[in-house]
Amino acid sequence: MIVALVDACGGGSGEGLDANGRPIGEGADPGGPLLPNYTSIQSHVFTPICAACHAGGSAPQGLRLDAGNAYAMTVGVSSAEVSSLKRIAPGDPDNSYLIQKIEGHAAVGARMPFGGPYLDDATIAVIRQWIAEGAAP
Ligand code: HEC
Repeated sequence: MIVALVDACGGGSGEGLDANGRPIGEGADPGGPLLPNYTSIQSHVFTPICAACHAGGSAPQGLRLDAGNAYAMTVGVSSAEVSSLKRIAPGDPDNSYLIQKIEGHAAVGARMPFGGPYLDDATIAVIRQWIAEGAAP
């Protein structure tokens, strides 16, 4: 299903690539594998990929995902687009709006990262695991 969505957009899956099209693990990417904890997800995903747009006073939907703001602006905080859902609902990845956005089946707007390349399945699985285990800081 996810593959079909990517094909429909006409772009590459971006699998294994970071926001700059480099293989994950190269360049400014921090050493070590992505792990299901907040610090690792922040440094591997939110800071290098999402904060390119989601930072500062004009961050889309007021959502800042830079290291100083991401946790407080996501965990237990209502989505701006679908206010009945939390951006991250601890213990409940399926009902976490951020997961719906990166998987491409949110009710409103585009798949994230906006315009791609999208996160690969393994990366999404790690973020899901962190949320399922309670989304600890
Ligand atoms: C190229 C710019 C850009 C990048 C990179 C980007 N976003 Fe977004 N994001 C947007 C825009 C624009 C919107 C609002 C329009 C929409 O939802 O399609 C948005 C909306 C969102 C929302 C909805 C917020 C709410 O409260 O309803 C979430 C969640 C989100 N992005 C998460 C992410 C995550 C996680 C990443 C990184 C994996 C990311 N975005 C990367 C531009 C971007």
